[in-house]
Amino acid sequence: MQNQEINFAVIADVQYSDEDNLELCHFRQSPEKLYDAVSDINQSDAQFTVQLGDFINQYEKSYEIVLPIWDELLKPSRHVLGNHDLMVSDQFKQKVAPLLGLQKTWYSESLNDWRFIYLDGNDISFSASCEGTAEYEEVEKYYQAHGAPSPRWNGALGEEQLQWLENELQIATRSEQKAMIFCHFAVYPFSEFCLWNAPYIVSIIDKYTCVKAWFNGHEHDGNYQQRNHCHYLSFKGMVDTDESSFAFVSLKEESIEITGMGREISRSLAIAEPIPDELLTSPHKKAKTARKPPKFLV
Ligand SMILES: [Fe+2]
Repeated sequence: MQNQEINFAVIADVQYSDEDNLELCHFRQSPEKLYDAVSDINQSDAQFTVQLGDFINQYEKSYEIVLPIWDELLKPSRHVLGNHDLMVSDQFKQKVAPLLGLQKTWYSESLNDWRFIYLDGNDISFSASCEGTAEYEEVEKYYQAHGAPSPRWNGALGEEQLQWLENELQIATRSEQKAMIFCHFAVYPFSEFCLWNAPYIVSIIDKYTCVKAWFNGHEHDGNYQQRNHCHYLSFKGMVDTDESSFAFVSLKEESIEITGMGREISRSLAIAEPIPDELLTSPHKKAKTARKPPKFLV
């Protein structure tokens, strides 16, 4: 089964709500866009679908609209949590992950020679904690020390999850697997859409040439940049404008092929073979070191 092509679909920022349009967010159009995407996916060769977070905008009752549509998918699906997914009542926050079928909010799985790693960017966040609690105070302290002035609606991976991530990348390296990371939040290029501890996370990824891509939502306009061996791709938000956006992804031997639907851009991303350190000349070595992040992300 090694090296067999893998096909899957990606949907980001459905962000449904029964609310009037807000700037580019056309909340009430999301169910129809999602229904059409699910129909297209069911007719495709996608083996699974990844939902990159912000399934709803706010209010737990919004899940009653999008989940029945999602359940029409004929093949398996995976979710990562976005900040808006937890913009529900305090008593409902703990119920969101089980509602999406998640026993744990970060997890991994292997398929052929790939390892898929799903992260929880709300690990340390205001979205996941309830105001007035000790946990919220801890987040406030973390944010003041490491987050501000990055927006409060971002989050960070905590110590336990960071160690788990690094362990996953060590296993992938030993097993000669390629790794792909899914998270709602971006980590690169450094911007207001990135996790509070993005520079540290990128410095981990820099060390592991098995990581071929970081896929995220959250940045509705989309974005893309390659850094060393990793392609960092923000998928456009389905909720924006009258036109839908989602993608089909094909993992081939030497490339990651993205077929954009609606507003999403089609791309061919080469899977770069890592250059052994001993073959690198000084200028290349310089390029391999982490760029200085903007002040607010330090
Ligand atoms: Fe988001």
